[in-house]
Amino acid sequence: MDFIDIIPIVRMLFSTKSLVSVTNLVSTETKSFETIDAIKAEGFELSDRECIYLDGTVAKKQLLLNLKESIKGGVKAAIIKGHGAIVSNEFTGGSNAEVAGRIIIVTGGAQGFGGGVAEELFDKGAHVVIADLNEEVGQQMADKLNSKGLTNRAVFVKVNVGDSESVKTLVEQTVLQLGGVDAIISNAGILRAGGLDEMDPDTFDLMTKVNYAGYFYCAKHASRIMKLQSEVCSDHFMDIIQINSKSGLKGSNRNFAYAGGKFGGIGLTQSFALELMPNNIKVNSICPGNFFDGPLWSDPEKGLFVQYLNAGKVPGAKTVSDVQAFYEKQVPAGRGCRVNDVTKAILYVIDQDYETGQAIPVTGGQEMLK
Ligand SMILES: NC(=O)c1ccc[n+]([C@@H]2O[C@H](COP(=O)([O-])OP(=O)(O)OC[C@H]3O[C@@H](n4cnc5c(N)ncnc54)[C@H](O)[C@@H]3O)[C@@H](O)[C@H]2O)c1
Repeated sequence: MDFIDIIPIVRMLFSTKSLVSVTNLVSTETKSFETIDAIKAEGFELSDRECIYLDGTVAKKQLLLNLKESIKGGVKAAIIKGHGAIVSNEFTGGSNAEVAGRIIIVTGGAQGFGGGVAEELFDKGAHVVIADLNEEVGQQMADKLNSKGLTNRAVFVKVNVGDSESVKTLVEQTVLQLGGVDAIISNAGILRAGGLDEMDPDTFDLMTKVNYAGYFYCAKHASRIMKLQSEVCSDHFMDIIQINSKSGLKGSNRNFAYAGGKFGGIGLTQSFALELMPNNIKVNSICPGNFFDGPLWSDPEKGLFVQYLNAGKVPGAKTVSDVQAFYEKQVPAGRGCRVNDVTKAILYVIDQDYETGQAIPVTGGQEMLK
């Protein structure tokens, strides 16, 4: 069995009372972690009875059996011959019982909705992976979270969600750095508006790759690890959550490339949900309304408010505030969607063991389900 597959299994077996993260010491040609002394040399305090030795080269079925028999209360480290060592990190922090200790990947987590949601989940005790194409801003976000002085961890992993191999590497890095995957929030998305006359096929393909296929890649690679986890821990529920849009529920004029990908995402959600519920993996979409405070709308140079003002799209509007007021009036709640509105929906979805395949609007009443 690959070490990447052994690690999440061992983590779930270590997690008898609450979820743990693990430190993985991978053996290389020059350095081996196959003795207790080699682990202690890395700064871990361990007694002989807290460490087990297993042969990682035997068949999966046998290894699983050996792991289940050997990892009992008190065992904190597993040395897997041929691979390296897995050491349990006790973690008791976090204010929210549902997310504390969970390992959650947030794609597009450098800024916007993704950055805000990652921070709110981190503050409640989740370990988060900031997964983004933007290395500089993504690393800054992870550094910001780690500087809060909490005991959970944030890591940055560079990813292009429009590339299946890149998403596979993201999931493997998450397992190597933290120990498993309890939830993936497929949030990274791009918007290039345009009607049929303006939209060129390359832009359409790019949006489809990032907004639609990117969600498939996230579900494909994360669910493989989640299935291993559910094999050893039958009462552990996990989540694949897509950040969709109100444009996934209703057509969007001169914005069909975006709306089409989002509509398609709900088809994926419903279908993945049917396939994955037997593995205790829930799959849901969250459909936010417009995030007026985020960079897409409010960026002073490139934001949609400035663009719409300059294009004269809102009759009579003289300032950016006039344009914003025009759009806010269309929302029964009188304001745009905020990060915390989305986080609340995510917490609901994670908390539920009896909800899957849904598209949950968070639109202040602007979009209502039929
Ligand atoms: N902003 C809104 O009004 C709004 C409303 C409803 C839904 N949404 C959805 O919320 C999600 C986030 O939107 P936002 O407004 O916060 O966006 P944003 O542009 O502020 O942030 C998106 C992040 O995704 C990253 N990203 C872009 N392409 C990527 C790729 N190929 N691989 C990895 N990362 C990539 C960017 O670097 C950026 O950090 C999107 O799925 C969007 O469709 C946004």
